[in-house]
Amino acid sequence: MAAAAKTINAMFKGSSAYDAKAFKAAADIESHSAKSLSSLFAGSVTAPGSKASASIEAEREQFDKLAADLGVYASAVSAAADRNPDALSPQMRMQGGDAMMGGPLAKKTQAARDVASMPAEHAFHLMLQTCTSCHAKFRTKDE
Ligand code: HEC
Repeated sequence: MAAAAKTINAMFKGSSAYDAKAFKAAADIESHSAKSLSSLFAGSVTAPGSKASASIEAEREQFDKLAADLGVYASAVSAAADRNPDALSPQMRMQGGDAMMGGPLAKKTQAARDVASMPAEHAFHLMLQTCTSCHAKFRTKDE
């Protein structure tokens, strides 16, 4: 998942050339991972060597919501690659005002409703925020 996120990030940054197939493949990895997260951690989540927090069991609804949001954002990024087979288009880019939504207000947005109208780059940023939010809450820290 981390490698796939890096692939997409490098293309947005321009440090690697845009390749719609590779871009989409990376987004699809995220989307599949998102679907498996909830089932991976279904039932008892604490196992030896695992950094999964026991609070996943108690706060299952929130965990599943974060996993579902990740899937929504990843699908949006993937769909953008379908619409833009040749080049990373300006429509995929975040516009000036979009950054505002990444702030504290972002928590109040509805992923499925908002994602349809946002550029892929913005959906990608929200996807990364979802990784961070879930890890902050449900992954135990390294000593
Ligand atoms: C719904 C919650 C959730 C989301 C969303 C999520 N993760 Fe995780 N992630 C976890 C948990 C829980 C662990 C700890 C798993 C374990 O140690 O068994 C983890 C572990 C990891 C690890 C360490 C893997 C390892 O083998 O030690 C990486 C890397 C990672 N996640 C990357 C990502 C990336 C990148 C994203 C976003 C694209 C993401 N995760 C989104 C819950 C989530």
